[in-house]
Amino acid sequence: MNESQTKAWERHADEFIVDFPSGEMDTSLAEGAQVNWAAEFGREAPLIVEIGSGAGDSLVPMAAGRPECNVVAFEVFEPAVASTLGRLGREGVSNVRLALVDGAQALPQLFDDGTISELWTFFADPWHKKRHHKRRLVDAAFGDVVAAKLAPGGLWRLATDWEDYALWMREQLDDHPGLTNVHGGWAPRLAERPVTKYEARGLAAGRTVYDLTYRRADAPQD
Ligand SMILES: C[S@@+](CC[C@H](N)C(=O)[O-])C[C@H]1O[C@@H](n2cnc3c(N)ncnc32)[C@H](O)[C@@H]1O
Repeated sequence: MNESQTKAWERHADEFIVDFPSGEMDTSLAEGAQVNWAAEFGREAPLIVEIGSGAGDSLVPMAAGRPECNVVAFEVFEPAVASTLGRLGREGVSNVRLALVDGAQALPQLFDDGTISELWTFFADPWHKKRHHKRRLVDAAFGDVVAAKLAPGGLWRLATDWEDYALWMREQLDDHPGLTNVHGGWAPRLAERPVTKYEARGLAAGRTVYDLTYRRADAPQD
């Protein structure tokens, strides 16, 4: 961490970081670790979750725009979490909690079924090589977890600047029985999602940015 990140950590970690007992790796969760989110936020409110929040470039302004929601962000890279802390402090945004934990492991373990009103995964690592596809955050098995955790009517918003990952997401999720592609194809760009440095880099390199929105499928009627 650089000096300003270290200072941000010292100043703001107590307010925003949720600590968990770790498993084998620093960023993995110990078996059985649990959290009471309402107690962490000091209130009951609709829950939004971001996985891979980076330096908080989407997280902080988007959470500021949803003061009525509790926003939980998972990020495994400590300096990025420190930068997010600094930004939260500077901008006076208080409805965010950060966890230095693998969000793919955390989602099934730390949330009750049917409790997440929105999940955000923006510019997740694309893992290009075929032998690495199994490391991709988004796949049909993760779709099972998301479908279970979303509240009725809950939304999963995704964005990527890598076409092969975007097509992979459609392939994995469009026919998922627990999810509905809200737009039947690519979603219009979410107006409240700012252009982050990752998106700017993709655009500068001539790549197209793809947005997707899935809704928890309604339970089949008898
Ligand atoms: C390309 S960056 C994008 C950051 C941010 N969403 C943005 O648009 O500015 C992807 C981030 O996701 C984090 N990440 C990837 N997989 C993760 C996981 N399973 N849990 C938590 N963070 C993850 C990485 O550490 C990295 O900071």
